[in-house]
Amino acid sequence: NGALVPWNGPVTNVYSPVCIPTPNGLTKKLLGSIPNTTAKETMEALDAAVAAYDNGLGEWPTMPVEARIKCMQQFVYLMIQQREVVIRLLMWEIGKTLADATKEFDRTVDYINDTIGALKDLDRESSRFQQAEGTIAQIRRAPLGVVLSMGPFNYPLNEIFTTLIPALIMGNTILFKLPKHGVLAHYPLLNAFKEAFPKGTVNTLYGKGSEIISPIMESGKVNVLAFIGSSKVANGLKKLHPKVNRLRAILSLDAKNAAIVTKHANIDVAVNECILGALSFNGQRCTALKLIFVQKEVAAEFTEKLSAAVAALKPGLPWENGVRITPLPEDNKPAYLKACIDDAVSKGAKVLNENGGFQEASFVFPAVVYPVNEQMKLYHEEQFGPIVPVVPFESIDEPINYQVNASHGMQVSIFSEEPAEVAKLIDSFVNLVSRVNINCQAQRSPDVFPFTGRKDSAEGTLSVFDALRSFSIRSLVAAKVTESTKT
Ligand code: G3H
Repeated sequence: NGALVPWNGPVTNVYSPVCIPTPNGLTKKLLGSIPNTTAKETMEALDAAVAAYDNGLGEWPTMPVEARIKCMQQFVYLMIQQREVVIRLLMWEIGKTLADATKEFDRTVDYINDTIGALKDLDRESSRFQQAEGTIAQIRRAPLGVVLSMGPFNYPLNEIFTTLIPALIMGNTILFKLPKHGVLAHYPLLNAFKEAFPKGTVNTLYGKGSEIISPIMESGKVNVLAFIGSSKVANGLKKLHPKVNRLRAILSLDAKNAAIVTKHANIDVAVNECILGALSFNGQRCTALKLIFVQKEVAAEFTEKLSAAVAALKPGLPWENGVRITPLPEDNKPAYLKACIDDAVSKGAKVLNENGGFQEASFVFPAVVYPVNEQMKLYHEEQFGPIVPVVPFESIDEPINYQVNASHGMQVSIFSEEPAEVAKLIDSFVNLVSRVNINCQAQRSPDVFPFTGRKDSAEGTLSVFDALRSFSIRSLVAAKVTESTKT
């Protein structure tokens, strides 16, 4: 509710995935601590968001669009002052390379500025009058209420802000649950929220989901759930809401995006793009390529070039030059990745690159695993880490069947230089996923393009333009056409 509160309550220590030598061996470095919101503050934050919205009659939801834009511009101004410290925290806290951490910050600022531009266009469109069947009307974009916004550690700033910022600028009030990792990176921005927006508009929480998010959902006072994470958690959260049919959900969820390298592919292009797609930020992206199908005729050439290129990727600390592989923030991830590799090896696959899967403290060296088949965990599970599972195939029906039977449908990347083959594959996949990439890796950007998914991959659409619509309703002001309404 816009107040800074002195804190004597419980805190969570925040550790870096970067380890330092201690007498007990390599240990994760302690970076700081963060207050755990208790049940009491959680309910106060919820009440503040509900009161600030005030059934749509509060200061923020009734503020004219130009004034809301001014607040957002003030926020961006204050945010930019914190650029260096936020970038440094992203490196220390989640192990993002300097290049990726810088890109994440700058991309988020661009996203906000583009959102402001898109809102100006939408507002212009909304102020036009339309006339049909003797009725004249203006369609206004109106907010939905209280939005709970939460997201994952991999893009703690960029991803969460792709829901929080459009929801906010459309006049909704916000409950913002900070991510488990990447939480300190938000700390320098909390004051900017406080300074730029009216009291109670943005309310920040941190703590265990079961302790703070469950009571919020159970209260029934949240109108929109904006969540980026797993479909299992999203379904659990939705079920807690007493009137789930009144809840709008904007979700970005599971994805195990496939690449398909046919015998007509340019193998060098495919190798290069598959490495970017599978291993950027150690494979910790929802849009990462997580399974690579390669046609048997070119499998030997592809896997040989792929494993040589993966073996050459430089591991190191996030701020070191040319580093591509960095420590992983999630404590249980190295053991999980090892179990996936062991499972595949026990069923006949091999790790092709030297050092593949090697682990030290929070580092896991990427592994190219081949040949992967349907019996293995790596065929089905979203590894969200540095493993590149490769599946050989004879008929193109095999990767198509994979997507037909999958519970997810986000993206696919097709590698082929044969136009007729590409055209046929586009026609098959465009109805199975929400983005088909041709001779390039899978990715979310540019942020002005729609970002969604089928099946368990998403609900609603996020892009600079779509998100403004997702977090608002079209509200009509209508009158009969008479001499007075005409003027
Ligand atoms: O984890 C999902 C991110 O939104 C991916 O963004 O594809 O631009 O890296 P990106």
